[in-house]
Amino acid sequence: RMLDVCADSAELGPYRHYMQKEIFEQPTAIANTINQALSQGFNPDQFGEQAQQILQQATAIRIIACGTSYHAGLVARYWIEAYTGMPVSVDIASEYRYSNGLEQRGTLIIAISQSGETADLLAAIRNAKERGEVKILALCNVAHSTLTREADLSILTQAGIEIGVASTKAFTTQLAALYVFAGCLAQARSSLSDEKLAELANWLPRLPAMISAALSQESEIEGWAQALSHHAHTLYLGRNTLFPIALEGALKLKEIAYIHAEGYAAGELKHGPLALVDENMPVIVCAANDALFEKLMSNLREVEARGGQIYLIAEPGCEAALPYVKSAIFLPLNTGPLAPIVFTIPLQLLAYHTAHRKGTDVDKPRNLAKSVTVE
Ligand code: G6P
Repeated sequence: RMLDVCADSAELGPYRHYMQKEIFEQPTAIANTINQALSQGFNPDQFGEQAQQILQQATAIRIIACGTSYHAGLVARYWIEAYTGMPVSVDIASEYRYSNGLEQRGTLIIAISQSGETADLLAAIRNAKERGEVKILALCNVAHSTLTREADLSILTQAGIEIGVASTKAFTTQLAALYVFAGCLAQARSSLSDEKLAELANWLPRLPAMISAALSQESEIEGWAQALSHHAHTLYLGRNTLFPIALEGALKLKEIAYIHAEGYAAGELKHGPLALVDENMPVIVCAANDALFEKLMSNLREVEARGGQIYLIAEPGCEAALPYVKSAIFLPLNTGPLAPIVFTIPLQLLAYHTAHRKGTDVDKPRNLAKSVTVE
């Protein structure tokens, strides 16, 4: 028993919980995951011999996943549609498996799963094979899982073992792998110019440092966590690739801090959640310095006019938002198309520190399991 305790604490190093440790492992986990892309760029051969052919012949993409992995799929849709022009749909596995409809011939099903053992996902891919002539691509963190065994092609994330039930490094490595996949798909299908492909690939070597820079803002986030821990409800907003990150930030807070949190596409605010906004509603907003920033600004004004307390996470260049917010944290660097990966970091830290303040069982939240292998 004594030995166990010692082994555990040694493994945790300077960290209090596995979740905190795993959050800080992300620069390394991501670098390991994109290792081949760092040297080869968007060469589809890095995914294996068959990859080039499968990527060229796909007629449509359908992504299927559960939980946090589903949010990775929602982000990937924006990248794949923008870089390839292919139609992409994203489905929750427990819904897909019981829905009807045929698959278009040549559809590439991308099944995303940290464990590769989630029962609903395995049922969904078996079901997809009965709906038409599809190929299955597994994106998984476990090399010899049931999912990878049943797939035509596998891409492995290199997150290492993830112990915290709430997924952190598994998610950001999925995103990094999906970004590389979207680039490879564009390369295989010649849907982008060489110049544009090179520009997208050039962001990758900067990613681990951008993640480290975001991690270095932990103490600022701790201040927010103190405020948030006194609230029962929160709203998370984002646009474009940061909309799924708002969903993921809200999920993390629900899972481990037991605070009701909703993620919304900022443009949907006026179709419902605005009715909830008053001085007791913290609104966490992710702002990229992109073409949609002006649109997001009008959403901030809507919230501020109703007394909502805005906590802004923003890229440099979004300073015009400052008059409307209660507090702001600026990412040190611009993140370009990798924004969803980098913005995830402060939201993970926020959930972690809020949960820690509340004294919940961070690594093993009540009622939840790491891997849901039964329906
Ligand atoms: C559980 C875990 C989540 C995870 C989901 C899907 O709910 O608590 O963290 O995102 O399962 O798991 P998978 O292994 O398929 O990614």
